[in-house]
Amino acid sequence: MSEEKMAAWLKSLSACTDCELHQEGNLGPVQFSGDSSSPLMFVGEGPGGVEDEYGVPLVGPSGKLLDKALWSVGLTRDHVYVTNIIKCRPKNNRTPTLEEGKRCANIHLVKEIELVQPKVIVCLGKVAFQYFYGRTASIMRNRGKWFQWHDIPVMPTYHPAFLLRQTGHELVESKWQVYYDFKAAAEKAKEAMPDFIFKSPEQPDLLTLYADVKEQRQKKG
Ligand code: URA
Repeated sequence: MSEEKMAAWLKSLSACTDCELHQEGNLGPVQFSGDSSSPLMFVGEGPGGVEDEYGVPLVGPSGKLLDKALWSVGLTRDHVYVTNIIKCRPKNNRTPTLEEGKRCANIHLVKEIELVQPKVIVCLGKVAFQYFYGRTASIMRNRGKWFQWHDIPVMPTYHPAFLLRQTGHELVESKWQVYYDFKAAAEKAKEAMPDFIFKSPEQPDLLTLYADVKEQRQKKG
């Protein structure tokens, strides 16, 4: 992955005004988090309030749960690549439409995949999975299964926000399902790139790690 190409993409991302989403009262497009040389990519839906503040995906409550789930299978956030289908926060946290997702991802996510060349992609939730597999793609029926997208193995699993809404027995069951899905994804990525380091000795605190990105963003906004 060329650093210059990544920097050029980040520049074009931050200047993007391709659709109306950038006018929905947010601070502009949110970038990626983690390591752009990682073989393992996680694709979420779109930024919420904390992500819009920081300019980094999945650093709010869903992100904290994602970090815990990654740690449980021997991964840390700084050694995986995390991004979203939609780069700008939709107003009032509404769920982006499939069309909005397609339009944004066809410009930016496709470019990220070309630059990062992940060996494994995990879709977090329906919006991400439907970008790859269309309107009828169901997470409930397909979670934990492997699909191919342009020769890249892709697996859908539950979005952490889904787990945050669950309680009792359902919560326990869904957590185990996500654990086994992440474990399978980590194993596949390790097989593809055995020498890559997937874990730091401690879990990084993303809000500290990205404090400077937040500061730059607030100055710009
Ligand atoms: N949910 C997502 O899918 N992505 C984020 O960045 C935040 C919440």
